Amino acid sequence: IPVDPFDLVIFGGTGDLARRKILPALFRRFCAGQMSPDTQIIAAARSALDTATYRGFVTEALNEFVPNRACEEGTLAGFLAIIDYVAIDATGKDGWETLVERIQGNRVRAFYFSVGPSLFAPLAERINSYGLSTQTSRIVVEKPFGHDLTSARALNAILADNFDESQIYRIDHYLGKETVQNLMAIRFGNMLFEPLWNSQYVDHIQITVAESVGVGGRGGYYDRAGAMRDMMQNHLMQLLCLIAMEPPAKFDPDAVRDEKLKVIRALDPVQPHHIVRGQYNAAPGDEDAHPSYREAVEDPRSTTESYIALKAHISNWRWANTPFYLRTGKRLVARSSVINVMFKDAPHAIFGQEAGRHANVLSIRLQPNEGITLKVTIKEPGPGGMRLLDVPLDMSFAEALGAEGEDPPDAYERLIVDVIRGNQTLFMRGDEVEAAWGWTDPIIAGWQARGDVPKPYDSGSTGPGDAELLMKRDGRKWQGIN
Ligand code: BG6
Repeated sequence: IPVDPFDLVIFGGTGDLARRKILPALFRRFCAGQMSPDTQIIAAARSALDTATYRGFVTEALNEFVPNRACEEGTLAGFLAIIDYVAIDATGKDGWETLVERIQGNRVRAFYFSVGPSLFAPLAERINSYGLSTQTSRIVVEKPFGHDLTSARALNAILADNFDESQIYRIDHYLGKETVQNLMAIRFGNMLFEPLWNSQYVDHIQITVAESVGVGGRGGYYDRAGAMRDMMQNHLMQLLCLIAMEPPAKFDPDAVRDEKLKVIRALDPVQPHHIVRGQYNAAPGDEDAHPSYREAVEDPRSTTESYIALKAHISNWRWANTPFYLRTGKRLVARSSVINVMFKDAPHAIFGQEAGRHANVLSIRLQPNEGITLKVTIKEPGPGGMRLLDVPLDMSFAEALGAEGEDPPDAYERLIVDVIRGNQTLFMRGDEVEAAWGWTDPIIAGWQARGDVPKPYDSGSTGPGDAELLMKRDGRKWQGIN
């Protein structure tokens, strides 16, 4: 469904995020016929470029990040025609009058802050003082949304001084992923699961977001963040919320976000012995291609974690005594994001203990090979008596939808369209972000107070051995990463 023509200003238009994500996402939506040729995209950045040069930058970005284009070459020309560039000084006066001239009318106007948080305040203030903020204006803010609770509060306060909460779109790109949205469809669109979705039937839940990449060229940022701030506080927390929340009365922004917030507020503080931090070593025998974390961040003494596993408890009626085990890390054996809902054993073994103990597992694969698998128990075939066997009921979304070989749409495509449509459901509310930091801060403070040093693990492994122990102590086991 096409969206009405709009104006989108991308501050940080020459940056990495614009190149890799925002421009490719806009182009794909343009190819899909969702954006009208009357739309206007204005990139704003410090460099003194003219529009023709910037369009060259866009073409290069698209060649690199949208190489196999389903749409015709003429579409690229059409897309470039709606792109403009304004050189702007985010902290001064230059360029602002030009920007004002370029944006007129009452249509939807989105300002994308694809810049460091230090520029949020000057940008927000200028958008207001130059009269650019209207009823139809909204701003889009990228992560990291602060470094801790104090800084997140300060950012929220700056934004609140200039915009209404209904105009602020805080991005967590995991929420834009097709399969993450599917979590809600699976839970609330099926009668089958929801009655079992509680501590009475679920033994525990595992959430794994494993990455095979290392920190790459982002060492400067990452070494100050670590896996806790970079992934756990936002992406894994959002997955936890969607898995654990109560059914919202309807699928509207505040109903969903209220329920997510309740989950975060019900989280217990995490015990220090329920956390494992890790840091990757070089890949054995392949040190040049895959150096250690410390080499990658150029700090031989860094104690930042590139891996974290922890056991969380949600103290509420539904989840009392059902642990949630969360883990994420870089340079692991595979890229794999999976949620495993581990059901309890049947209450009584009617086939006798020798038939084996079996429990159902619902695996929701978020990426790659998106799909769901339900492990069910059947009789082992053959005349050997009543022995039991686990088999997967397996569903791949691509196969089921006849879309094999096609990548699911990128999260940014969905999220940008939602901004234009004014739908905040898949964006984080200010109080949600603060509550997430409120849970994370004491954990990080504890490490700092104790001088905690992460456990080393080999690149290409499943993470530090202590993470296995975290489970083993509870008589449980991680499902494999693959
Ligand atoms: C980003 C993190 O938010 O998410 C990165 O800053 C991480 O460190 C990335 O690699 C993972 O996203 P995806 O979409 O590749 O799973």
